[in-house]
Amino acid sequence: MGIQYDEGKRMFKLDTACTTYMIGISDEGYVGHVYYGKRLHRFGGKYLMRMEEMPYTPLVNQREKTSFLDFYPMEYPTGGVGDYRESCLDVRNSAGSIGSEIFYESHSITGGKPPLPELPASFGKEDEVDTLQIVCADPVLGLRVTLLYSVFEKEDVITRSVKIENSGTEELRLEKVYSAGLDMENRDFEMVSLCGSWARERHIQRAALRYGRQLVSSSKGESSHQEHPFLALVTPETTQETGEIYAMHFVYSGNFIAQTERTQFDYIRMVMGIHPDGFCWRLAPGESFQAPETVMTYSGSGFGKMSRSLHDFYREHLIRSPYKYKKRPILINNWEATYFDFNTEKLLDIAREAKKNGIEMLVMDDGWFGKRNWDDSSLGDWTVNQEKLTTGLPDLVSQVRSLGMEFGIWFEPEMISLDSELYRAHPDWAIQIPGRVPGLSRAQYVLDISRKEVRDYAYECMAKILRSAPITYVKWDMNRQLCDIGSTALPADAQGELLHRYVLGLYEMQERLVTEFPELLLENCSGGGARFDPGMLYYSPQIWCSDDTDAIERLKIQEGTALIYPLSTIGAHVSDCPNHIVGRQTSFETRGNVALAGTFGYELDITKISGEEREQIAGQVENCHKYRELIQAGDYYRITSWSDRKPYDCWEVAAKDGSHALVTFVQVLGQPNVHSKSIRLRGLESMASYRLEGTEAVYTGEELMECGFLIRDVKGDFQSKLYHFIRE
Ligand code: DGJ
Repeated sequence: MGIQYDEGKRMFKLDTACTTYMIGISDEGYVGHVYYGKRLHRFGGKYLMRMEEMPYTPLVNQREKTSFLDFYPMEYPTGGVGDYRESCLDVRNSAGSIGSEIFYESHSITGGKPPLPELPASFGKEDEVDTLQIVCADPVLGLRVTLLYSVFEKEDVITRSVKIENSGTEELRLEKVYSAGLDMENRDFEMVSLCGSWARERHIQRAALRYGRQLVSSSKGESSHQEHPFLALVTPETTQETGEIYAMHFVYSGNFIAQTERTQFDYIRMVMGIHPDGFCWRLAPGESFQAPETVMTYSGSGFGKMSRSLHDFYREHLIRSPYKYKKRPILINNWEATYFDFNTEKLLDIAREAKKNGIEMLVMDDGWFGKRNWDDSSLGDWTVNQEKLTTGLPDLVSQVRSLGMEFGIWFEPEMISLDSELYRAHPDWAIQIPGRVPGLSRAQYVLDISRKEVRDYAYECMAKILRSAPITYVKWDMNRQLCDIGSTALPADAQGELLHRYVLGLYEMQERLVTEFPELLLENCSGGGARFDPGMLYYSPQIWCSDDTDAIERLKIQEGTALIYPLSTIGAHVSDCPNHIVGRQTSFETRGNVALAGTFGYELDITKISGEEREQIAGQVENCHKYRELIQAGDYYRITSWSDRKPYDCWEVAAKDGSHALVTFVQVLGQPNVHSKSIRLRGLESMASYRLEGTEAVYTGEELMECGFLIRDVKGDFQSKLYHFIRE
């Protein structure tokens, strides 16, 4: 069992393979944080709660209580009673005041992990995870706060969430409910986060912690292109292999906050949860609120260990899709090939040529429904456009399938175009503030899917299409952020619930979809990667990473994404050049090699590219088949980074049993007057011999890992190469 309780010490010890997390209960019942870090063998360190340090000792000297609360390392800090650091919970009572204080009441330790109602959450069998629930109470408010900790021993992950129950007699209002807080002493921490924009998602950012609060967040109703629900604190020497990391990642797809605070005493408070801006939840007596889950991991061996812990964790304990480790069809998507300008014949031309080159699925993207010839109409009118699909959808699907290919389709179910039959019939179904003209984005509004009748409509439209033909893949897109946050269906005092209800509505729709179509391969997408988050992974094993398909831009985007997500989740396609977004010209080979580090596919008009490029597709497809299992299930190692101002980028995927490894090297810019470059591999068996495939060269594992492998054959800008080492 990964969780122990010492009755005498009133301490909990949560152990994973390499880490320990300890919680202590003070005599008064404050639940305090004691320790998180390298695995410890014995209980200890409760003195870190510093209960006896003046000016306040709770049982003796009540006078200085606020100075105590403003320093004590609280497991779940509450607001309004004297802890001036960021609180995790703000509760307004029926008299209108905010203030709560919680004390230990009881606890339970069980094998396994209970699901979180209505929310995506990690899961595991009884022998894989144990769960601690600490029940705390605020006797004044009649509030019960259950702190949930689930310990995934093998993956070095602890998940946290919180359930708030109103066990009193008055209605309460939750104005802030975070999912986790972590208080600790500063160790010159630097903050690492993932930031960007449309077409530049999830670039790695690192900066020293200043006094005060530093945060990343989203108020856009989705996890967003700009900031990511991930935060890590790292010691200054942290590299891929050295240094300590405390990371938090949020299993949620809406507004979030991930914040660190460096306090007057050089302590750190790290918090994560639903963004409190505009949030308010009514809690009537007897009701409860479940906060989403936060994933926490500690690495004492740098970023590489953190990445591999999270990759294993998401693969084993969050992604449910049957495609998790299964072969996924190599697809060709017509978006960059045709945009809105296509018809049955055009799609079949693409499919025929694709089939000849070994591609296995045609995905029909945006523009097949209503009168959608541009992005300014018809969202919500999910009927087939007969002018484009002249013989109907079932016939198109059947023709594609008779070629021996699968068929996939695009939807954007959460949206409604201003110019749509749906909007003309139900203008009140759009999210809006009555009396104010809501802001358009991409000429569309967002459907209020917090409403059941709206969800039912949108779901049924989609399901009807999927029932009409053997369609095996859906790309679920979402192309705008939310604003004008109002629902015509919610009472005035519940408008603060809309954004969370929206996310719950989204989860409910996706749950219905994967339940009704259990074999469907679902790919989430949001104008590229604006909703690439662990919440969505619970429903879809892959997510479109970015609309930027340029191989060089993708290096930073995919590096940031792979910092925390397995490669098997990263939608990556080979597209045409000059690249549609940056206008860059890169070799077809490099485009293929970069896309191989994800869910491989094509996004171009295969009938129009040069013969020389087309001829390379067969080899890329072969690579995809050959390395698929390795890429889906192997260990990822970041070797060097272009984002770290190196002129080249390099990563490796090694089989868990050390039997082989694939190294991808991309020379972004060629350099004059340099010698060959030595790169040190990882994850091999030291004493084994490895042959570089396609050559006679044999190296020992330790040679490759310690002396390095010499890159001598990559010349020019934007050039790349794959190296496959096989154990002999
Ligand atoms: C945004 C997606 O990221 C693209 O791949 C494409 O599906 C468009 N939307 C279609 O509108």
